[in-house]
Amino acid sequence: MRNLDHTELLTELEATMAVNLDRHLSIAKEWHPHDYIPWDEGRNFAAMGGDDWDESQSGLSDLARTAMITNLLTEDNLPSYHRGLADNFSLDGAWGTWVGRWTAEENRHGIVMRDYLVVTRAVDPVELERARMQHMTTGVDAPMDGANFLHSVAYVTLQELATRVSHRNTGHACGDPVADRMLARIAADENLHMIFYGNLGEAALDLTPDQTVRAIADVVTDFAMPGLNMPNFRKNAMSLAKHGIYDLRQHLDEVLMPVLRKWRIFERNDFGPDGERDRDRLAAFVEQLGVKATKFEQSRDRLLARESARAEMVS
Ligand SMILES: [Fe+2]
Ligand SMILES: [Fe+2]
Repeated sequence: MRNLDHTELLTELEATMAVNLDRHLSIAKEWHPHDYIPWDEGRNFAAMGGDDWDESQSGLSDLARTAMITNLLTEDNLPSYHRGLADNFSLDGAWGTWVGRWTAEENRHGIVMRDYLVVTRAVDPVELERARMQHMTTGVDAPMDGANFLHSVAYVTLQELATRVSHRNTGHACGDPVADRMLARIAADENLHMIFYGNLGEAALDLTPDQTVRAIADVVTDFAMPGLNMPNFRKNAMSLAKHGIYDLRQHLDEVLMPVLRKWRIFERNDFGPDGERDRDRLAAFVEQLGVKATKFEQSRDRLLARESARAEMVS
C-alpha cells in the first residue's frame, strides 16, 4: 500500500480525532492551580521588604529539587511543543481545537509547579528564572529529518507517559504530601493525554500499518526526553536515573512496553514486508534496551552500595 500524505492522514483520521476530543472533554476534570498551593507558607522577598532566598529555607532534598526543576522546565517549554504540534497536526477544525485545549492544559502544569516552588521557597527563584529564560530561548531540538504527523503522534504518546511516570516519582521523592498531591494531579492529566495520542496512533496503525510502524520504530529507537537543551540536562538526567525518578528500566517497563502493547505491535498481522522489517528493528531495539537496563541497574547497585559504605565509615 502506498504511503498517505499529510493531508490524507489528517482527513482520514479526523473522525477519530473528533471522537477522542469529545471523549477527553467529557472525562477531563476541571481543577485549579490555587487549590494546590500552601499560600500561608509564602512571604515577601527582599524587593518588597522581606528576605531573599537561601538554601536553608528549602524543605526539599537535592534530588527532589533537581527533579522538580527538570520537570518544570519541561513544562515551561510549551511554546516550542505547541509550534511543533500545530505544524504537524494543523489548526483546522477538531485538530485545532485539540491543539489549543492541550496547550491550555499543559500550561496549567507549569503554573502550579512554579507557584509551589516559589511560595514554599523550595528552590532558588532567581536560578529558576534564569534557567527558564535560557531553556525557552533555545527551544527544543529541531525535529528529526523527515519527521511528520505520524512521528509526532508516536513521540507524544511516549512522552506523555514518560512525564506521567516522572511527575509521580518526583512527587514521592519530595517527601511533602502537598507536592505529592499536586504532582499526582498533573500526572493524571498526562495519563489522559497519553490515552488520547495512543488512540490516534492505534487508528493510524489500522489506516496505514507499514507507514505508521516505520514512524514508531524511528521514534522509539531515537527517543529522548524533551529536555536535552536544558541547562545541566545530562548531569541531572543521570542523577534522576540513579535515584529511580526516571531510568532505563522505567522507560522500558513503564513507558515503552505498555505503549507497544496498547498498539499490539508484536501481534498484528497486517504488516507488509516493509512493516515487518520495521517491527524487527523495534524488537531488536527493545531487546538491547533490556540488556542495557539490567547493566545500568547492576552498576547503580554497586555505586549506591559503595556510597553507603563510605557514609558509614564517615559516621
Ligand atoms: Fe504537562
Ligand atoms: Fe501532557
